[in-house]
Amino acid sequence: MTDVHFNKEKGSQLTLFTPGPVHVPERVLKELSKPNDTHRSKPYSEMHQIATEGLQRLLDTKNECLIFTSSATGVMEACVRNLINDDDKALFLSIGAFGDRWYDIGISNGKNGIKEGVEWGHAITGEFAKEVMDRDNYSVVFIQSNETSTGVYNPVDKVVPILKDYGTLVCVDATSSMAGVKVEVDKLGIDVCLASVQKCFALPPGLAVCSVSDAAFEKAEKVKNRGFYFDFIGLKKRNAKHQTPTTPPIPQIRGLTAQLDYILNEEGLEKRFERHEQLGRRTREWVHEMNLKMFPEKGYESNTVSTISNSLNLDIPKMVSMLLEKGYRIVNGYGNLVNKTFRIGHMGEINLNDLEKMLKVLTEIIKELK
Ligand SMILES: Cc1ncc(COP(=O)(O)O)c(C=O)c1O
Repeated sequence: MTDVHFNKEKGSQLTLFTPGPVHVPERVLKELSKPNDTHRSKPYSEMHQIATEGLQRLLDTKNECLIFTSSATGVMEACVRNLINDDDKALFLSIGAFGDRWYDIGISNGKNGIKEGVEWGHAITGEFAKEVMDRDNYSVVFIQSNETSTGVYNPVDKVVPILKDYGTLVCVDATSSMAGVKVEVDKLGIDVCLASVQKCFALPPGLAVCSVSDAAFEKAEKVKNRGFYFDFIGLKKRNAKHQTPTTPPIPQIRGLTAQLDYILNEEGLEKRFERHEQLGRRTREWVHEMNLKMFPEKGYESNTVSTISNSLNLDIPKMVSMLLEKGYRIVNGYGNLVNKTFRIGHMGEINLNDLEKMLKVLTEIIKELK
């Protein structure tokens, strides 16, 4: 097992059906090993520009796109630090562990924030958003598109325009759906749309990206104590030169550039989104075939990660380790949902054939465990 799991020469030999980090294709790994120039050089700037323009195409936006040397949580904190002033009230719409995290980030930064949500497994609907917004004046609203703990996809296409009607800034955490599920930033009016790249982008962890609207930059100009490392204004100034304020992980950005080129020009956006839809649909069919139950309410299931209720009372840690022996990793439930659910990630470069192979093995394991 140790050899399969961690091979000194070849790296991990496991196939990851995880909600991130996910398998990184060989062609990206090759890009990472190429020699680089400094982050103030012309070749770097050219690469940075290709990456940010690629992100604009991916997100269907004219908004500026920024690159962060952090994981998604860093950008979540950046949104809190840059967009909430002392006299502001912020609304954190939470449907799971990552929504709760954003609220905790707000509170730990001393911001005036309120958390509103629905029972885990359910989604924020337009009606719910309206009801909450009618109660008070919020300057900024924070919401996940894909909540990775519950496997629920919030209907952001409907909810964000409703929130925008109240004149608020809206930040969307699209960490586990960006580059797997379509999000039209300008059409919806999203002010910040963020993600880390170790999920649907199929890149190694270490980078996060976001789009920032003019309104969000204008707001940031007025916010005190934005900090230094994650200051939107400092990042914007350097972004104008196609650079970052501090030394970025240059090989990772090369990887991002190559992967965006693949996504936009080889696989194609529509095909990529369609593939993720198929993977989600097939996983849900299998859940049904196995007499298992999806954790999310019907109609709001994620197409990048399936959270499955442990309705058969399976020994989940044992199931996960038996599957590991066969060369596949899936994961237990997140936080409060450990052992009550398990999760199959189907994001990044996984195709239907890979999924079928893994599900066949998992089916046999579940039969044995029952
Ligand atoms: C929806 C969501 N938001 C935020 C995060 C935090 O991401 P990171 O670990 O890149 O900081 C995750 C990680 O799984 C996530 O799924």
